[in-house]
Amino acid sequence: MKKLVVLTGSGISSESGLKTFRETGGLWENYDVMEVASPAGWLKNRNLVLSFYNERRAQLRDAVPNEGHKGLVSLESGFDVHIITQNVDNLHERAGSTKVLHLHGLLTRARSTGDPSLTYDIGYEPIRPEDTCEKGHPLRPDIVWFGEAVPAIEEAASIAATADIFVVIGTSMVVYPAAGLIDYVPKYAPVFLIDPNEVAVPIYRHITFIKEKAGRGVKMLIEKLSYPEVQNPRA
Ligand code: APR
Repeated sequence: MKKLVVLTGSGISSESGLKTFRETGGLWENYDVMEVASPAGWLKNRNLVLSFYNERRAQLRDAVPNEGHKGLVSLESGFDVHIITQNVDNLHERAGSTKVLHLHGLLTRARSTGDPSLTYDIGYEPIRPEDTCEKGHPLRPDIVWFGEAVPAIEEAASIAATADIFVVIGTSMVVYPAAGLIDYVPKYAPVFLIDPNEVAVPIYRHITFIKEKAGRGVKMLIEKLSYPEVQNPRA
């Protein structure tokens, strides 16, 4: 089966009621990103950081996958679908996607501040200031903060480098290294981008824009992917 690699951002979860980051009314409009999503912010005010992620985790409990997530699952019947997501929600998995790589961590996991190899599945429960790992170190959200390394980026790059088709959904493509994954995609591979708004992308690539929200956009993508010339880009 052809390898279909999909890079997603918060836009794909917007129709599930979860806020994006940089749009009007987005998370970064209401919070100082360096206060709630950086190591310095954690050192300065741990309770603020914990409550920010506890609130998002509680919202995630009540959210459900939308047609965008479900459409990507349906593509698994005809393609080897690999999802590389910047999202820390678990909606791809809850929709039924089988290959999901999280670049920026997962809301439903906590990590030890003393030994990062110690992570815990916490479901939708809050992390309290007094919570510690088995070695007695405070727990933090298992999220990649600004200024921190992205451990999964090499694996993501090797997946992108073997894509037969590459799709970008619901990301403003301003955060690196995630936005740079498009540079690894083979030159012959068709690239699609689904977003209701303008997104700045590299000019050296031909990209098919589907200027729609994810729910409708993925439906249109499924239709386009049924065309032979998309299925056999090297023919
Ligand atoms: N369907 C598809 N795309 C949508 C929808 C929708 N229903 N609604 C909004 N969008 C698009 C917006 O037009 C925008 O291009 O989703 C994109 C969201 O962009 P950002 O808010 O910048 O979020 P994202 O790209 O996911 O952020 C990347 O930045 O803040 C950090 O770590 C955080 O993973 C995040 C990273």
